[in-house]
Amino acid sequence: MAFHPNPGASFRLPPRERVLWVLGIWLPCLAYAIVRYNVLGGVAWTHLPLYIVNKSAALAGVVLVALAYLVGKLFGGAHGSERVRSKAKFLGLAGFSMITVHVLMAMVLLSPAYFEKFYETSGKFNLSGEMTFLCGVLAYGCLLVPAIATLPHMYDALGMGRWLRSQHMGYVALGLACGHTFSMGYKGWIDLASWPGRMPPITLLGFLCALLAVAVKLGAAGVRRSKSAPLGPEGRVPGSS
Ligand code: HEM
Repeated sequence: MAFHPNPGASFRLPPRERVLWVLGIWLPCLAYAIVRYNVLGGVAWTHLPLYIVNKSAALAGVVLVALAYLVGKLFGGAHGSERVRSKAKFLGLAGFSMITVHVLMAMVLLSPAYFEKFYETSGKFNLSGEMTFLCGVLAYGCLLVPAIATLPHMYDALGMGRWLRSQHMGYVALGLACGHTFSMGYKGWIDLASWPGRMPPITLLGFLCALLAVAVKLGAAGVRRSKSAPLGPEGRVPGSS
């Protein structure tokens, strides 16, 4: 029986391009977090190594995962080509790695001293905390599915239909990331006067990136549906006999 390699496996992005993608996304996120929270927001510099870097990893992770689903649709070349698939795989895995770093850092930081807004006075989570972490944990679980499907031989083992469905779990993850960032941040989004230096909160930026990728997918699916021939009254395609 013929072996079917994973899509994108025949092309490998040059190391320079890979480094450029990761640093080109993460460094601006870090700079943004430092300016917004340390320089203008009054967060002490002692909290740069973990608390602020965690914010940059979360944002860079969402941006990379969103780009993985936008490549071939909004930029990067012809949809479905091996180069685009390889780029999508790289961006998705880089984003997944960043989000893994974010989750580990968030676990270390998780306490009322750092995140008072998630806790009741009893020390348990309030509703915002419960919703935020429910969405975060589910989003991470959904991200694991396409990440595992990129392991060698998975396309051959799953078959095209199941492999494609596993990739689509990334959209569910992005939808849940919208819930994660909305639950924790929406109150600050509408209070523009509280934005240091008029810079939008990172929760809002993460929400918009995730939403863009989901919206482009839904838009593309809508266009495909409207282009396909409508069914006639008896369920047959008009013109077919
Ligand atoms: C077990 C799973 C997760 C946990 C425990 C978690 C925890 C947290 C915490 C505590 C924050 C607040 C950080 C802060 O205000 O400094 C946060 C923010 C954020 N998280 Fe998560 N997260 C999880 C999963 C995810 C996933 C899967 C994504 C994206 C796909 C994500 C994206 C973000 C973004 C964009 C922010 C906003 C960054 C900020 O403003 O600080 N998180 N998360």
